[in-house]
Amino acid sequence: MSTPRYAVFGHPVAHSLSPRIHAAFARQTGIALEYTAIDTAPHDFVAALDRFAGEGGKGANVTLPLKEAAFAISATVTERARRAGAVNTLSRNDGRWQGDNTDGAGLVRDLTGRQGLDLRARRALLLGAGGAARGVAPALLDAGISELVIVNRSPERADALADALGEPDRAHSRYWADLGDLGDFTLIVNATSASRDGKGEFSLPFGLTTPRTLAVDLNYGEAAIPFLAWARAAHCHDAVDGLGMLVEQAAEAFEAWHGVRPDTDAVYAELRDRDKVLVTAD
Ligand code: ATR
Repeated sequence: MSTPRYAVFGHPVAHSLSPRIHAAFARQTGIALEYTAIDTAPHDFVAALDRFAGEGGKGANVTLPLKEAAFAISATVTERARRAGAVNTLSRNDGRWQGDNTDGAGLVRDLTGRQGLDLRARRALLLGAGGAARGVAPALLDAGISELVIVNRSPERADALADALGEPDRAHSRYWADLGDLGDFTLIVNATSASRDGKGEFSLPFGLTTPRTLAVDLNYGEAAIPFLAWARAAHCHDAVDGLGMLVEQAAEAFEAWHGVRPDTDAVYAELRDRDKVLVTAD
C-alpha cells in the first residue's frame, strides 16, 4: 500500500512550517505519511485539489489566501467551519472534501493552555476580516470574551463577518478610521496580513491598550515583529505570536485525520528554539 498523502495548499506556501510539524507528529506517533507543500494560485485551486485527490490525497491544510475558497468547495463542513465561513483543514471522505476549521480551537488552546491566559470577560478587538480572522472569531466568542469589535481596512468585510457571527449584542464592526474612538481593550488580535510583505511599521493608537492587555498576532516569525513591537511599546501585559496557534491547529487536524492526538510541547519548543521566533510575556 502506498504512503497516505497530505499537503498544505497556499500562495505563497514555501515558508510554511506545516510539513515540518506534521512530519514531527508522524514520527512521534509512528504513523506513516507523506506531507508536502503545494503552491497554488487561487484560480488554480480547484484543479490542484482534484489532481491531489486523484493522486491519493487524503487530507489538506489550507492557508492564505485560500481559506474562503476552501469553504466554497467543501461538500460538507463542520459546525465551526460553517460559523467561520472559512476552512483550513480538508478531509477526503467518500470521494468528497469535508471542510473543518481548526484555527480558532488552536488559538484558544495555545492562549489558555500553553500561555496560561484567561480569556473570559475580555473586551476584544479583532483587526482584519479575512480567512484568518474568520477562523478565530467564533472560538473567541465561545471562550467567553465579553465583546468582539471587528475592524478591517475594507469595512464591508468586517460587516460581513459580524453578520455571519450572528451575535449583534456581542460582535460588531467599526471603521478603521475610528480606532482612536473605540475605548480600550484587554485583548487585541492582529489577523491582518499587513506585515507579511516585509513592511516594518505597525501603528495603532496606544489608547487601545490597558496595562492588562493581551496582544496576539496570528502571524509568526518576521511577519509578527511589527505588531508585537507596537504592543510592547504600548506596555501591553502580554505579547504572543502565532507559533503556538500554528502547532495547535496542526494537532487538531492531525487528530481529525489519524485519530491520535500528538503531544505539541516538544514540537513547539523545537520550532521556537530553532527559528528563534519570538514570544514574550512581560
Ligand atoms: P488571511 O487568510 O491571512 O486572513 P486574507 O483573507 O487575504 O488572508 O486577509 C488578509 C487580511 O489582512 C484582510 O483583513 C486585509 O484587509 P482587507 O480585507 O481590507 O484587504 C488585511 N490587510 C492586508 N493588508 C493590510 C494593510 N496594509 N493594512 C490593514 N489591513 C490589511
